[in-house]
Amino acid sequence: MKLIIYDEITFSLKKAKLFKSKIVKMKDIKELERIKLMFLGKKGVFTNIFKKISSLCLSERKKLSMSVNSIKKEIQFLINTKKKEIIKMNLQRKINLEKIDVTLPCKRFNIGSIHPISKTISDIEEYFSKIGFNIVTENFEIENQYYNFDALNIFQDHPARTSQDTFWINKNYLLRTQMSSMQVRMLKKSKLPIKILVSGKVYRNDYDSKHTPMFHQIEGLVIEKKINFSNLKWMMNEFIDYFFENKVVKRFRNSFFPFTVPSMEVDVLEEKKNWIEILGCGMVHPSILNKIDVDLNDYQGCAFGIGVERLAMLRNNISDIRLFFENNLRFLRQFK
Ligand code: DAH
Repeated sequence: MKLIIYDEITFSLKKAKLFKSKIVKMKDIKELERIKLMFLGKKGVFTNIFKKISSLCLSERKKLSMSVNSIKKEIQFLINTKKKEIIKMNLQRKINLEKIDVTLPCKRFNIGSIHPISKTISDIEEYFSKIGFNIVTENFEIENQYYNFDALNIFQDHPARTSQDTFWINKNYLLRTQMSSMQVRMLKKSKLPIKILVSGKVYRNDYDSKHTPMFHQIEGLVIEKKINFSNLKWMMNEFIDYFFENKVVKRFRNSFFPFTVPSMEVDVLEEKKNWIEILGCGMVHPSILNKIDVDLNDYQGCAFGIGVERLAMLRNNISDIRLFFENNLRFLRQFK
């Protein structure tokens, strides 16, 4: 019996000694925990050995316990040191992976820029909102002929209908040819006094260096008690000076629009010394004001329509309007 116990103990100790070199080589913390449990756990190799030793006589117990204990301590020490080592190693690996090399060259990525037309519109809106205009965001790119033509005194056989080369959708609906189409819409729904600005796309069947089938207009409408033609001229004059930073020569000339009387157009002198028309304006025609319930002795109205592309071309010295819509990045990047 004693011999068997001795054999078993020697076998277990041999096994433990064998594992010493294995522990030294270990890299995986889970595997190490498993080994720890196997030797030092409650049901582990050493608990077993000590159980067996306890059945021996005192002197043998003493002798064996001492040597077994020293092997147990050795294994314990090896496992603990190894554990610390693996934890440190794992941490170092993580640090290495997450390290940022700030000296590396950065990746280039493209940030878009605001389109020159959007920029022009927002500059104009900003100016007019500062002087009390409300910016209207409602938009009717598809309009009926009443608001686009009839309501503005442009009747069936009026030359303006043909001169504006309309894109018709059906007998009644069209792609609006002018932002003035918002005038009567706004008159009908707003409370007096009115001071509004509305911008948007308009469409005409035209295509050359000065015309594109789609372009942008900004319409302004003021209905107030004491507004007059002189106020309108002053407003247009101030706006142009502000927009071009007092750098352009401009001229005001008489004109005709069926929905304003008197009417006027403003031209600006471009680099090649051609006059470019940038806006039309005038006092709102009484027949239009009559469409709403206003006392004409009391209220007056003025309106203006600005060509956005024209302003953008003049300000940036661009001679071909089509450049705005060709999406050529080399062209667009200039406006960053
Ligand atoms: N709607 C006109 C056009 O497209 C421009 C215009 C002229 C607008 C006179 C107005 C105005 O408000 O009073 O040519």
